[in-house]
Amino acid sequence: MAASSATPVAGVLGAGGPRLAERVAAVDALVAVLAGAIDGPAGVRAAGLVASGGKRLRPLLTLLLAGDGPAAADEAGERSLRVAAAATELIHVATLAHDDVLDRAPTRRGVPTIWSTDGAEAAVATGDALLAAAFEAVSRDARPEVSAILATAASSLAAGELMQRADAFRLDITVERYEQRVIGKTAALFEAACRLGAIHGGVDAELAGSIGRDLGIAFQLLDDLLDIEGDPAVTGKARGTDLLDGTVTLPLALAAARDPEFAAVKLRELDEPAAAELCDRLIASGTCDEVRASALGRVEVAQAAIAALPGPEGRRQALALAARALVDRSA
Ligand code: FPP
Ligand code: MG
Repeated sequence: MAASSATPVAGVLGAGGPRLAERVAAVDALVAVLAGAIDGPAGVRAAGLVASGGKRLRPLLTLLLAGDGPAAADEAGERSLRVAAAATELIHVATLAHDDVLDRAPTRRGVPTIWSTDGAEAAVATGDALLAAAFEAVSRDARPEVSAILATAASSLAAGELMQRADAFRLDITVERYEQRVIGKTAALFEAACRLGAIHGGVDAELAGSIGRDLGIAFQLLDDLLDIEGDPAVTGKARGTDLLDGTVTLPLALAAARDPEFAAVKLRELDEPAAAELCDRLIASGTCDEVRASALGRVEVAQAAIAALPGPEGRRQALALAARALVDRSA
């Protein structure tokens, strides 16, 4: 299982017990099968994309919330859990194929993007096919709420991304606006993953959803920080790529609201060295530390909700470790 064994998530598997490790491996295989079953060149590209790595965080959350709940009772329930978990990953990978077109990204996870090797049409078609494959897979589930949860998330992903595009190159982004964007483009799918797990684990859907939402917001805040502070050798991309494509994230938005020098930055004129220098100035301004504190605060809220989950201690422990791994990641 290439994806999870090479990441901090590996520690979670130990805590989650043998059943979790088996399910994670089965879901990883299912993701590959569903992507590979897509017809034509899009199938080949989709299979390559899902095989290129990824932490499989969203399916992991589904499986963790499911725990040893009612899903364990029969084979159909087990299958339905695996399909739901796999669908969250397929949707996530679909958004990445689309995002690379919008970002004009040459590489992702250190691998050339479909956009860069085969063009925008091929990348969009691959993302579309992955999205369709996810919905086709869950459409066989007798419970309509499974498709509904994922459809709500997919709409939010698109809306969040469109908001971000509408905000491109704007330095006057409020914290509230930024948060709305992040809930849409990232946290909504984390929330959906947890809600799907809750269906199978007999957990309150709202409690599960709030855990996913808080972890998703924290994940994106930390992801944005990696773009500014991360080691390119580890992240696989140059520092300041968000700034170069006009994506103003919270550290710069906060700095621009307080300091006229940041508010006067000409983002359209940045080149790579200037973007890296702006990253250094942002780190020195203290706003990165502020954003990190905010992310850690979100994780603490999620940890408190995790501690309040009913049922076996193993589920709480594994989820708490997963939340911790999210904070500790460096790529
Ligand atoms: C990666 O994050 C991108 C996202 C979290 C979401 C992108 C969403 C879309 C393109 C909408 C497509 C919607 C559907 C339903 C297919 P990032 O851009 O912050 O980070 P990265 O580019 O550096 O990975
Ligand atoms: Mg992007």
